[in-house]
Amino acid sequence: MPIANNFISDINDEEYTFDLELGWCPECYLVQLMSSVPTQLMFNSDYAYFSSTSESMKHHFQGMAEEIIHLTSKINEPFIVEVGCNDGILLKHLAEKGIDHLGIEASANVAEHARGKGVNVVNTFFNLECAEKISDEYRSADVIYGANTICHVDEIESLIKGIALLLKDDGYFIFEDPYLPEILQKTSFDQIYDEHIFYFSGLSVSNLLRKNGLQLVNMKPLEVHGGSMRYYARKTNAADINSNIKKLMEQETKNRLDSLAGYSQFKNNITEICTNLRTTLQNLKKAGSTIAAYGATSKSTTLLNYSGIGPDIINYISDTTPTKIDKYSPGIHIPIKPYSHFISNPPDYALLLAWNHKKEIIEKEKQYLAKGGKFIIPFPEVRIIQ
Ligand code: TMP
Repeated sequence: MPIANNFISDINDEEYTFDLELGWCPECYLVQLMSSVPTQLMFNSDYAYFSSTSESMKHHFQGMAEEIIHLTSKINEPFIVEVGCNDGILLKHLAEKGIDHLGIEASANVAEHARGKGVNVVNTFFNLECAEKISDEYRSADVIYGANTICHVDEIESLIKGIALLLKDDGYFIFEDPYLPEILQKTSFDQIYDEHIFYFSGLSVSNLLRKNGLQLVNMKPLEVHGGSMRYYARKTNAADINSNIKKLMEQETKNRLDSLAGYSQFKNNITEICTNLRTTLQNLKKAGSTIAAYGATSKSTTLLNYSGIGPDIINYISDTTPTKIDKYSPGIHIPIKPYSHFISNPPDYALLLAWNHKKEIIEKEKQYLAKGGKFIIPFPEVRIIQ
């Protein structure tokens, strides 16, 4: 599999590839990639993903900023740290209110965008060493937050140790990532790609935190990224454990996530979706329909390459991100076109690769649908929206 966000300028460019394979630990129940891509190849000054390309994500992070502000409202001069602040989609709200904050961002280009919004950013990777530095050069944090970043960090033990070191005794560590039970339930195997090293559940997260002096105190299911979980952790002396955790963990145990049996159907379900999707697209193509795709998402790299859906079927992928436009999708090499191209060359069918933004996109594309355009949604099963 190629690197999911490595959109290339020339189809003859050499591409790094690796074996995309999942493993499950019978002791701590963590699901993870069996081999990882060198971090600098994934997160660098050419990083293609900007969080602020979606209106619903802007809204989501504004809500989280408000929650952090509320949580720290009684603290005199709180200090908030975000691990992986991307283009400042969340921290800009704290910066605007003059709240002391620091974003740690590994990719220089998105970090620069965050700075442009008045956000304080250090361009580095977060680990124990980085936490020690921040603790020395700044101060301990009241809240440490991470959205779609904690599952990206190969050195997970060092990261959690760093969090425990940097967090105040009464502070909160809050993070959100795609939720493993949602991936299994929706068969959304496109979530499996190089950046997503870990696939968390409450069972695995509570083990990981406990080993490093932190305790899971709450879990909140979220709709974003096709079904995520927000985890709240505190130092082990915390007394305010929410009853949600027990309910969610019981469900995880009922779904057998603590045994290989919980994963046995996943591969068959993936094969079924791939076969259905390829057959649907090939039949439409044979019937003379034009097909494009909507949203050059990172996760589409897995879907398209694993299913063998390439430029012979999909004419182009429309995307609004400037860094992706006029490039080619990793591995399978479908051209990426600006949104204006979708408007001027509307296909009969648009494969919705950004299916997690379905609500926002369907709302935005009312006219496309009204003129007879159709969306093909790949998950949880292949279906067509007219
Ligand atoms: P994500 O699923 O990781 O958030 O990525 C969404 C991708 O889809 C990103 O490249 C931006 C693109 N996109 C569009 O092109 N149009 C849209 O309306 C939305 C919401 C996203």
